[in-house]
Amino acid sequence: MNSQSNRVLIRNGIIITPENIFRGDILVVGETIARVAAAIDDAEARVIDASGFHILPGLIDAHVHLRDPGATHKEDFASGTRAALAGGVTTVLDMPNNPQPTTTREALDEKRSIAQEKAACDCAFFVGATQGNADECGNVGAVGVKLYLGATTGDLLVTDFDSIYRHFAAQHGLPIVVHAEDNEALQFFASASRHSAKRPPLAASLAVARALALAEATGRQLRIAHLSTARELALVKAAKARGLNVSCEVTPQHLFLSTEDEERLGAFGIVNPPLRSPDDVRALWENLADCDMVATDHAPHTIEEKRSSKPPSGMPGLETMLPLLLTAASEKRLSLQDIARLTARNPARVFRFARKGEIAVGYDADLTLVKLDQEYTLQKPWQTKCNWSPFEGRRVRGKIASVFLRGQVVIANGEILVRAGYGKEVGVA
Ligand code: DOR
Ligand code: ZN
Repeated sequence: MNSQSNRVLIRNGIIITPENIFRGDILVVGETIARVAAAIDDAEARVIDASGFHILPGLIDAHVHLRDPGATHKEDFASGTRAALAGGVTTVLDMPNNPQPTTTREALDEKRSIAQEKAACDCAFFVGATQGNADECGNVGAVGVKLYLGATTGDLLVTDFDSIYRHFAAQHGLPIVVHAEDNEALQFFASASRHSAKRPPLAASLAVARALALAEATGRQLRIAHLSTARELALVKAAKARGLNVSCEVTPQHLFLSTEDEERLGAFGIVNPPLRSPDDVRALWENLADCDMVATDHAPHTIEEKRSSKPPSGMPGLETMLPLLLTAASEKRLSLQDIARLTARNPARVFRFARKGEIAVGYDADLTLVKLDQEYTLQKPWQTKCNWSPFEGRRVRGKIASVFLRGQVVIANGEILVRAGYGKEVGVA
């Protein structure tokens, strides 16, 4: 490769960071951001004119289920990572609740080699907590431990105090990410008719309180997955005020849908935790400053499965998160800087990705260029194999135009250019 093809100058875009919005140039050398400044001249670089585009750090989605191996009829590393890039997401963190759960070194290595072959975007992996693997979780090359306190898709579930405590007290530095719904409460309310009543806010606040108490007792770094209620947020906020190393994520479905959509969506609105009341949704919006990240919980199931007599829980989200957030920004419900903080900087910091999440010198050149004033309707074709979205038909404002991943243009004019296998595993600093 000669020096010219190695240097790209992205000129005159509007650069968004958590602190700032400014017109400027970004010089990329190889895979890395080499300079960011108001005006850069570089005789050797290929120039890309970004006039009229806003540039976000490539999104990091800290919560996706790519289903590979084991349920590749719903999604696999190829389709799921293409969906990610189509949604402006350049790094995904894959969950362990596959049919053969990712709970051992062997299972994680198998997933890793599948991702190496198929992934189009960068990836990192969670290991699933079981009754017996607390001592092993630190040695499998995962970036975090996923602990299910309530039953959901797959068989991963740990409810006995002994095992839960062992995971919190384990001698590794990985964060524990908790699916916080109390399993006994879920069983108690299981006969309710609406899905949202089968898994009420009480189940979530019980489990969040338990996880926070354990994190406080052991010093473990904790992240609450898909926090969805005002009460959970109050608990997390109080824990942060006491100095706990805790963070929380909220999902687009809990920000942009509510129990008022339950009937309309039917099985396609069934998700765990369930859609919440408009009051809870309002509370999340009003307290977004206390939320650490937005992550999709991309959980694809096929249309046939959703139409069956026992529809599984979960919905896809990778391709719709950013357009929804940009639309909310156009309505002044959050700022563009908030989007950079919630979808890039904070997930990178929580998971200690040294080269991800910032538009700054020395970071990977992962960039998502968007056209803010472009209005369109969310609709097919989707990249996700499940081929539906609960947001289908929604008017949005803000379209993803191009995406750079480690200096390569992987999406241009909405078209995916990247090959399967370009995606790399992201290591921990
Ligand atoms: O709705 C959900 N679907 N919630 C989960 O916790 C798991 C996910 C899935 O994997 O389908
Ligand atoms: Zn999930």
